Order: sequence, then structure tokens, then C-alpha cells
Amino acid sequence: MSPKNLYIQTFGCQMNVYDSERLSHLLAARNYRLVEDPAEADLIFLNTCSVRQKPEQKVYSALGRFRGFKKRKPELIIGVGGCVAQQEGEALLRRLPYLDFVLGTKELGRINELLDDLETSGKRGVATALNGRVDPYASLPFFPSSSKATAFVSIMQGCDNFCSFCIVPFVRGREVSRPFEDILEEIRALAAQGVKEVTLLGQNVNSYGNRRPGNLGFVGLLEAVQRTGGIERIRFTTSHPKDLSPSLVEAFATLSKLCEHIHLPLQSGSNRILKRMNRGYSREEYLQKVLELRRVCPEISITTDMIVGFPGEEEVDFRATLEMIEKVRFDDLFSFKYSDRPHTRAALLADKVPEEISRRRLMELQAWQRESTSQKNKIWEGREVEVLVEGQSKTCALENMGRTRTNRIVNFPGKIHPPGSLVRVRIEKAMAHSLRGEASL
Ligand code: SAH
Ligand code: SF4
Ligand code: F3S
Repeated sequence: MSPKNLYIQTFGCQMNVYDSERLSHLLAARNYRLVEDPAEADLIFLNTCSVRQKPEQKVYSALGRFRGFKKRKPELIIGVGGCVAQQEGEALLRRLPYLDFVLGTKELGRINELLDDLETSGKRGVATALNGRVDPYASLPFFPSSSKATAFVSIMQGCDNFCSFCIVPFVRGREVSRPFEDILEEIRALAAQGVKEVTLLGQNVNSYGNRRPGNLGFVGLLEAVQRTGGIERIRFTTSHPKDLSPSLVEAFATLSKLCEHIHLPLQSGSNRILKRMNRGYSREEYLQKVLELRRVCPEISITTDMIVGFPGEEEVDFRATLEMIEKVRFDDLFSFKYSDRPHTRAALLADKVPEEISRRRLMELQAWQRESTSQKNKIWEGREVEVLVEGQSKTCALENMGRTRTNRIVNFPGKIHPPGSLVRVRIEKAMAHSLRGEASL
């Protein structure tokens, strides 16, 4: 039987990237192979994100485009998965008559059942149970396969924090950690396939294992990954500042493979807004954690997420956020205009910030951060760093592209190194979003 073509479009965070890989693995067993052109596809799957309005709208415009494909090729199957699928469920099938199935965030394994129904009776299906604290990966066939130097590994699913702006707990369900051994088995298999760097994923990795009696917790997991032969670098994301433990801070000094980078979302620099966001820490506590991290690991790169225009945010709150950017000097920062999400408590707050004010604040904040990022990148000029080569540069195939341990992209010309090579590179110039260098002899 000739293979069928699968096109997956992934939106949102790295957890969706991981889930898309698992889904393509499941579908490979049904004789689907990945293609890069949706026009060639027999099955189009959109793995979606609903964290803000913008990514959600992107999903609908992509669906509008694929609807045209189906007019030309009626046997084309179109499915939606991920967080918008979880959020909307059956309503999506009602609204979009050309859609064939909806697959929730904890039901990846039911893709086979949905496709069987479609193939045998043409029945359009929905699988969106959130399943309490059940590990959604435990029932899937053994993964992984990878031809790359780097890989993501989800170590937990869901979130119990209920930050007042955030939809994730409603679309990913309650926090559940994967068993220690499942994760290690996956990482050992990745290492055997040549993967050199793993990024452990979760909405709040710091609380890994808290609800699994007898589990060793997140630092225990990091120590076990450190002992895995073949793995050279370990990263993780995301950390919640309130759960950043002293032992995790110490791990940056003691675990040689743990890269000197932490993504530590602050969200706002104002204590009043942090409280309304239900974040569970103050700006002073956050600053204290930054100091501790820099004490044990002076070179550590600290990146963050920030929201402007949260309901009730006054000019003084926004100034407090800018002040934190000045005080902490983040290596990089992702900033967002607050966006109302279904089910969240913030959506019910009355004092919404007008769009033009949020827009102005976002632009001002980004200007401050550009300054900070560029200063932080400049520090690397003239220094020699270790780069893990991931492939060739996007803009120039004659150059290598890789990352420093502090997660900066480095492009360097000369001999092309295979992905997975660790190369010493002398940094010549800091650009806005990357570094340029020359391989050292
Ligand atoms: N688990 C991570 C964040 C996941 S969502 C954490 O705890 O920080 C990624 C980022 O999207 C968040 O850090 C936040 O900055 C942003 N975000 C989430 N909900 C948002 C909303 N309703 N409006 C604007 N930005 C939002
Ligand atoms: Fe959302 Fe907060 Fe959970 Fe992060 S910790 S996923 S921001 S509820
Ligand atoms: Fe988006 Fe879902 Fe990730 S809402 S950020 S894809 S967990």
C-alpha cells in the first residue's frame, strides 16, 4: 500500500511541538509520512494554541485556507488538536462543517479510533476528555525517534497554579508528572540515536514529582539525566519563580551538563498586579531568586515573560515593570499584551486597560528590553564559547548554526560540522538576535 501524506501545523509552545512529534509517530504506524506541502496532504492536522487571542485567530485563518484544499480534494481529512480543540470541543465540528475530527490535549492515543470511524462510516468524532490526573503518554507506544542533535521531552502535563490570566489549567487539565523511568528510558533512547541535548518540558517543571509518592523530584530527575551517557547538555522550561527551590539553584553549580540558562517568567514588576495575577511571589522575592542564581552561577542567562495591560494596571505599575527590567537585566524577554481568555478570573475583572495604552506600554517595554539584550549580547564579543551545532544557518547554507550553553544562537562560517558537534567558537560580533563567530583552531 502506498504511504499517505500527513501535514502537521504546530502552533504555541514546545509542548505542542513534542505532542506533534508523538502524533506523527502514532500516524507513521498507520502508513502516514510527513510532507512539507499541505497541498500534497491526505490528512492535515493542526495542533493549536489558545493562550492568547492572537494564536487562536491564527488557527481559524489556517483552517479557512485548508477548507479551500478540501474543495479541490474532497477525500482530504482535516483534524484539529491541542488547546483550541480542548477549549472548543464539539462546537468546532458544529461551526466548521469541513472539519473531520477534534482531538483533545490528553487524548492523543485516540487518533486511531477517530480515523477508524472516519474510514469505516464517515463519522466525524470528538475526543476531549481531560481524564483527571492521568498521564496521557503512558498509554502510547514507545517513542522516540530523532535525527536531530536536540530533542524535547515532556516530563509533565497540565498545571494547578491558576494564574488569573491563564487558560492553560483549563485546556491541559490538572498537573500530572510522568513516571521517572518512562522519562529516562526515552532520554536514553534519544541519546542512542545521537541526540546531545534534551529540553525537559512542563508548565511548571519545578513541581515535577510533587504528587508522585516516592518520586525523586525535579532535581533528582536532573541528576539522573546528568548520568545518562551521550547526553551533553540539559535544559528545562518553564520554571515558576515561586517553586524555584534552593536545591535547583544549587544544581546550576553542581550539574556540569545543566546549561547556564533559566526561563523564569516574571509577568509584572508590580506587587499589586502580581497579587491580582495570583502568581504567589513578590518582586522582592523574585529579585532574591535572581541574586541566588547569579551567586551560584555568575554567567547564567535569565529570560522572562511579561504581560502589559493586565486589568487594573496603572502607569505606576507599568513603571515598576520597567524598573525590574532595569534591575534584573534580562538576557531576553517575551512580552505580550494582556488578552481575555475564557474561564479565567481576570476575564471577569472590570477595569480593563484600553488597547491604545497597552500598545504604547508594549512598545516602550520592548524598546527597554532591546537595549538590555544588546548590552547582554555584547559581553560575549571577543570570548570563546562552546557551540552545539544544530544544522546550517537559515540565511546562509554555507554557515553553521548552533547555540551556546546560555542559549544564544551562533552562526559561524568555515568547515560545515555535522549536527551534534561541539565546537569552540570565538565570538566576533553580537547582532540583535544572535552572535557571529569563527571556529577556534
Ligand atoms: N507556564 C508558564 C507560562 C505558559 S503561557 C509560566 O508559568 O510562566 C506563556 C506565556 O504567555 C506566559 O508566561 C504569559 O506571559 C503569557 N500569557 C498567558 N496568558 C496570557 C494572557 N491571557 N494574555 C497575555 N499573555 C498571556
Ligand atoms: Fe498558566 Fe500560571 Fe500555570 Fe504558567 S503557572 S501555565 S501561567 S496557570
Ligand atoms: Fe498554547 Fe496550550 Fe502551550 S495554550 S502555550 S499550546 S499549553
